[in-house]
Amino acid sequence: MHTTADRTYYMANVLKKGARSLELLAMAIVKRAARPRPVAVAPADDDDDDDTGTSSDSDGAAKPQSFGDPIGGRYQRLAVIGSGSFGRVYRAVDNRTGEIVAVKCLFRAFNDPYGIVLESDVTDEVRALEACRGHPHIVQLIDHGRRPRHDGPVVGTGADAYIVMELVGPSLLDTICQRGTDAGARRYPESEVRHLMRQLLSAVGRMHVLGLMHRDLKPSNVLVDGRGVLKLCDLGMAFAMEESIPPYSNPVGSLPYKAPELLLRSSIYDETIDMWALGCIMAQLLGGQLLFRGMSHEDMLIRIIQVLGVDDIAGWRGYDDSMIPKTLRSGRRRHSRLWPRWSAGAVGGWVRGVEWASDV
Ligand SMILES: Nc1ncnc2c1ncn2[C@@H]1O[C@H](COP(=O)(O)OP(=O)(O)OP(=O)(O)O)[C@@H](O)[C@H]1O
Ligand SMILES: [Mg+2]
Repeated sequence: MHTTADRTYYMANVLKKGARSLELLAMAIVKRAARPRPVAVAPADDDDDDDTGTSSDSDGAAKPQSFGDPIGGRYQRLAVIGSGSFGRVYRAVDNRTGEIVAVKCLFRAFNDPYGIVLESDVTDEVRALEACRGHPHIVQLIDHGRRPRHDGPVVGTGADAYIVMELVGPSLLDTICQRGTDAGARRYPESEVRHLMRQLLSAVGRMHVLGLMHRDLKPSNVLVDGRGVLKLCDLGMAFAMEESIPPYSNPVGSLPYKAPELLLRSSIYDETIDMWALGCIMAQLLGGQLLFRGMSHEDMLIRIIQVLGVDDIAGWRGYDDSMIPKTLRSGRRRHSRLWPRWSAGAVGGWVRGVEWASDV
């Protein structure tokens, strides 16, 4: 009987033909000791624009009413299409060109009355989007702006900053939820998972080649239009590794997709935290449910260790035995349940084999 985790690695094996990235992913999950080689990036194509709003615009026939002040004096809000921890995302129309776009409106936190933290967050997200410009599977930046700086705190409901992007379809999370509530209904066929994961790996591969970690990969930060074209979004947590050496900030990421070192609250980590999250997303698509469904950091660690054991984890970057919660120290599993079939050595061997074969 295969568990969901076994299944992930099994599927990675099944999918290996022509999908070198998936082998890199499987290896990264089984053991994080080896750093993955950059994923080959597909050349940018020109057909990105014509999917603007196709899937989320099914209601476009009836002209929606605009509401509120134009954003930045230029973009008229049409409807809220998403919200997150930093603000809301609107479908909006560009008053100058008539183009339908997505505008992410960001607001200052209560403890950031002068918007200094917000300003640096927006700058980081815009810089990351600019760096990724032209990639077919990363959402494209159109414009950005902010309210003029004030001498003191500003009272009001208007956004403090905004980022204008191409409008893509709904998020992968929305699409998963639309399939129903039980795991069976939420399971994606292998061919679709291959298609989605290739695009996602291509996007994350580009970020890594550019020296950027995404740090918040999860289905709600992945957009998929009606034709199955996937675009990675929400680069708000993206971090340029070359600009600073660890320690890096932690907490980062969302609980079900956090790599063990993040769960251990380590501030020493690298881009392989993204690979872990990608594995969790792939398993979720195949299995129809979260790979590890912990309710807390500790609960997540228990579930991960039940599968992988501590021997593998001990070799990971950022691991410190004293970080393991006391409750996990006694009676913990030593060896990976996936060993020897999916030992890092074995997987690493065939990954290298596949790479050589595909390089020919
Ligand atoms: N370009 C876009 N086109 C269509 N929908 C989008 C676009 N950008 C974002 N969205 C929608 O808005 C939601 C929130 O966007 P985003 O993740 O960027 O905001 P956030 O505040 O940083 O979220 P969080 O921090 O909670 O992850 C997304 O999950 C998606 O549903
Ligand atoms: Mg988000």
